[in-house]
Amino acid sequence: MIPVSRPHFGIEEEQAAVAALRSGWVTQGPRVAEFERAFAAALGQLEAIAVSSCTTGLHLVLHALGIGRGDEVIVPSLSFIATANAVAHAGATPVFADIDLATYNLDAASAAKTISRRTKAILLVHQVGLPADVAAFRRLARRARVRLIEDAACAIGSQVNGRPVGADADVAVFSFHPRKLVTTGEGGMIVTRSRALARRLRSLRHHGVSMSDFARHASGKVVIEAYREVGYNYRMTDLQAAVGLVQLGRLPEFIARRQEQGARYDRAFAKHPALAIPDVAPDVGFNYQTYLLRLLPGARVSRDALMQRLLEQGIATRRGVMAAHREPAYKKTRLRVPLPATNEANRTAIVLPLYHAMTAADQDRVIEAVLSVV
Ligand SMILES: Cc1ncc(COP(=O)(O)O)c(C=O)c1O
Repeated sequence: MIPVSRPHFGIEEEQAAVAALRSGWVTQGPRVAEFERAFAAALGQLEAIAVSSCTTGLHLVLHALGIGRGDEVIVPSLSFIATANAVAHAGATPVFADIDLATYNLDAASAAKTISRRTKAILLVHQVGLPADVAAFRRLARRARVRLIEDAACAIGSQVNGRPVGADADVAVFSFHPRKLVTTGEGGMIVTRSRALARRLRSLRHHGVSMSDFARHASGKVVIEAYREVGYNYRMTDLQAAVGLVQLGRLPEFIARRQEQGARYDRAFAKHPALAIPDVAPDVGFNYQTYLLRLLPGARVSRDALMQRLLEQGIATRRGVMAAHREPAYKKTRLRVPLPATNEANRTAIVLPLYHAMTAADQDRVIEAVLSVV
């Protein structure tokens, strides 16, 4: 069976993990601090704050920015449900806006129509790693006097005009879930240009503590920490950070491989009249975290039938990106704008297998199977 995705670990990750286990540091120790420094440096950001996942990172950011009960946050419905859930965890209301079918990213005109007096932020997702139009949303956020928070869960290493996604963000959050290019098992990283926000986030991720265990242990004097406000356990462990450091160092290699594999799929499907490949603008460097293919009206089968036929040939796929407003958890949410592009993408997109160790022969098998069915 060809899987949809598979994390890529080598001997270096194994050695780093063993060394971390033997070091005596279990959580939020020197490796977490080193991973944060390396991540911030890789992006050219001022601060990076490691957390237990992208979901908890998004929740922490919303909480730290004072967004909660009675507030609204604009989100795309077409996203992994974690995007909407983070807003709900903060006590605020997710308000769904539509996407642009070409890039699967939030459509600025649709988002503008959803803004109300209660809107406090726009949660802009870089869907499947394809960079969203940050400049347009920065203008919209400024005009509406709301925050712009970037959900960069899938976008590590993607670029616009040579600048990595998140490099210029006020605040952005990345994921290290096993489907992402860089994985720590579970994990997340917040990046921000605000030193004050970073300080608050570091405290809140560890129950509102006044100083980290690491700083306390490093002190030559006895220090008694205080817990200044009600916070969370959203910590990353040193074991995860040790693996993350090795993975981050290999990111250029991971991206080069994905782009080569992505281009192979693109070449195979680009000219087919019933298929739409990812729309990658000339100024965009796409990390091909996920290969999303969309069936157009001329296709001979439905998306679900295609998935079934591929499964019967030993090829695993996933439905494209979910639409939160169609899931039972959010079905009762009243829509403020219509979501036709979201519904279309949700109905017709499919995720094809793509992972570092996938061979050209595996890809050819997938390509032949898709073309013979579609
Ligand atoms: C767009 C988006 N946001 C958030 C998340 C949640 O990330 P995590 O699993 O690290 O909480 C995901 C995970 O796939 C995602 O795709």
